[in-house]
Amino acid sequence: MRFKYVAGKYSCVTQTQTQLIDGTEVAASIRSDLISSVNRITNTGTTPQLATVLMNDDPASQTYVSMKHDDCEEVGIETRDITIDPEAPAAELFDTVDELNTDPSIHGILVQMPLPDHVDEREVLRRIDPKKDVDGFHPENVGRLVAGQPRYKPCTPHGIQKLLIAADIETEGADAVVIGRSNIVGKPMANLLIQKADAGNATVTLCHSRTNDLASKTREADIVIAAAGVPEMIDGDMLSAGTVVIDVGINRVETETGSELVGDVEFESAAEKADAITPVPGGVGPMTRAMLLWNTVKATAITTDVSVELP
Ligand code: GUN
Repeated sequence: MRFKYVAGKYSCVTQTQTQLIDGTEVAASIRSDLISSVNRITNTGTTPQLATVLMNDDPASQTYVSMKHDDCEEVGIETRDITIDPEAPAAELFDTVDELNTDPSIHGILVQMPLPDHVDEREVLRRIDPKKDVDGFHPENVGRLVAGQPRYKPCTPHGIQKLLIAADIETEGADAVVIGRSNIVGKPMANLLIQKADAGNATVTLCHSRTNDLASKTREADIVIAAAGVPEMIDGDMLSAGTVVIDVGINRVETETGSELVGDVEFESAAEKADAITPVPGGVGPMTRAMLLWNTVKATAITTDVSVELP
């Protein structure tokens, strides 16, 4: 299957079987379904509200946070936008989190990572009320997920599960290789894939920067989930025919004419081998954002005791 990148998205230019898993479309459908969940809560007198806290100068982080606000607005979730000077003492961030924890009008709290070096990220994550921890990074929520009783699944792996379900990918009994051991993606992804649940029941190999002979692992896989943050590190030679490829990477690389976004997968050669593949952009990224909304609606339902159906 050959794809061409035109006007911001990949299009198929030859006729074979490879399925392009369209995260933009699935995410739009989830957002649309979430509107009725939000309306149901709002009709009880509470409007869901997400607070974001940004304590860095990184333009990419600023863009991510601003997109999260736009998404919230689209589905009827209110937002509070807090920025803290990256030079400020850590205590300022801790005080902000404490205030948000006790503010009943705030249902979800997201502290955008990375944080400045003088702030202990783990201490911040521990400080967020686990019921408002819409990232799912608090140790209580991590423990619940590992124990098979998730409260908030981290947004990227949760979004990937939704994509696999939407694309009709069978995970039960599949050999899945997850590349990357981050707390945000790799570890929770591996944990979710082994659970006795939808988009679970897979046999998982978790690979990372010290894995020997990565290609021998990926060639054995039915599903490859690349989340190492290394531009185009997986190519078609590392895959067997018929693999499902999920690309979590969003890497900006320099080109002769400027720069472009690429994933952790070399798309053209991987698409030649894959049965199904996610593009970058337009694959996992929009799903991560949609699942933040999902978690925020769930957080509102939990903290206000309103029962609500989620898509
Ligand atoms: N920075 C990069 N990804 C994430 C994420 O999923 N949540 C937060 N809070 N910060 C991030």
